[in-house]
Amino acid sequence: MTTYSNLPENSKCLVTGAAGFVGSHLSRRLLGGGCRVTGLDCFTDYYNRRLKERNIRDLLENPAFDLIRADLADLENDWFDGVEYVFHQSAQAGVRASWGEEFSHYTRHNVLATQRLLEWARRTKLKRFVYASSSSVYGNTGKLPMHEDDLPRPLSPYGVTKLAAEHLCNLYHQNFRVPTVSLRYFTVYGPGQRPDMAFHRFIKAILNGDQLVIYGTGEQTRDFTFIGDIVEANLKAATTGHVEGRVYNIGGGTRISVNGVLEILKELSGKPFKVRYEPVQAGDPPHTYADTTRVRNELEFMPETSLQKGLAIMLDSFREVD
Ligand code: UGA
Repeated sequence: MTTYSNLPENSKCLVTGAAGFVGSHLSRRLLGGGCRVTGLDCFTDYYNRRLKERNIRDLLENPAFDLIRADLADLENDWFDGVEYVFHQSAQAGVRASWGEEFSHYTRHNVLATQRLLEWARRTKLKRFVYASSSSVYGNTGKLPMHEDDLPRPLSPYGVTKLAAEHLCNLYHQNFRVPTVSLRYFTVYGPGQRPDMAFHRFIKAILNGDQLVIYGTGEQTRDFTFIGDIVEANLKAATTGHVEGRVYNIGGGTRISVNGVLEILKELSGKPFKVRYEPVQAGDPPHTYADTTRVRNELEFMPETSLQKGLAIMLDSFREVD
């Protein structure tokens, strides 16, 4: 069982991507723990900006929260004066959308922006720099579970940029002692999940009586991770001593197929629904599954929310909004 961690009272934190899915939950948790938070977000139009504005509506009312509406790739030296902890959550997300013309958004927001932030960080006395990496760095490793020391071979351009940024974090740690820790998130879900992601689309379709779209056979598997667990893992990564330069898998603890998820959703929603199968999407890994031995041993982190429980919470959050 994970014990909850808190940063020292009044710690000054930077959360990049503060209006996004993970960034907004993390900012809320840090403020609740007595921190001051500077959020940064450039509100790209990858999905409806109104959802991002909704994510941060309550945060903006908190006097301990400031928001900088700007692009990290244009970082200016005085933006983050006094920051002690960095939680770098901003990115151009989306595995399946990262081909073609769109790739320049991925290089700008994932690679260049991270490099700019690290350049700033090397001239700053930070206590910790936590980078939100991704299970997409692994690709098809040919073995499960996936271990941090496996050779990463991303399958999507998105995965390539997340891996490049993770390598940049390692370089700035090795050369300039920036206290980086990278967390490889495995498919995060929960209230506020991005609208391009599977659970959001499935739940919305079920509640609207629309057909669900499944890419491939639905037999692909994922290690789905609840947002609350991702947030706690960030706190652990920021507060545990002697882990600078380390990389950790953050998984939910169970691997299940997309078809298996639909079974749970059928039961939880009590609504019948129709499914349409479409071709496998380029860049989609067939399976993911986190080996969590390292994070258990070194950060004393264990996920606490089962998929059943997390999906029930997510379903309720949709009903509240509708
Ligand atoms: C997710 C995030 O979108 C990435 O940003 C993140 O980096 C990645 O997790 C990760 O763990 O590294 P993904 O696993 O594709 O990527 O997450 P979902 O969108 O929830 O998709 C899960 C599975 O459901 C995929 O196989 C996808 O093809 C499938 N899917 C998705 C459908 O069958 N139908 C849909 O409508 C949407």
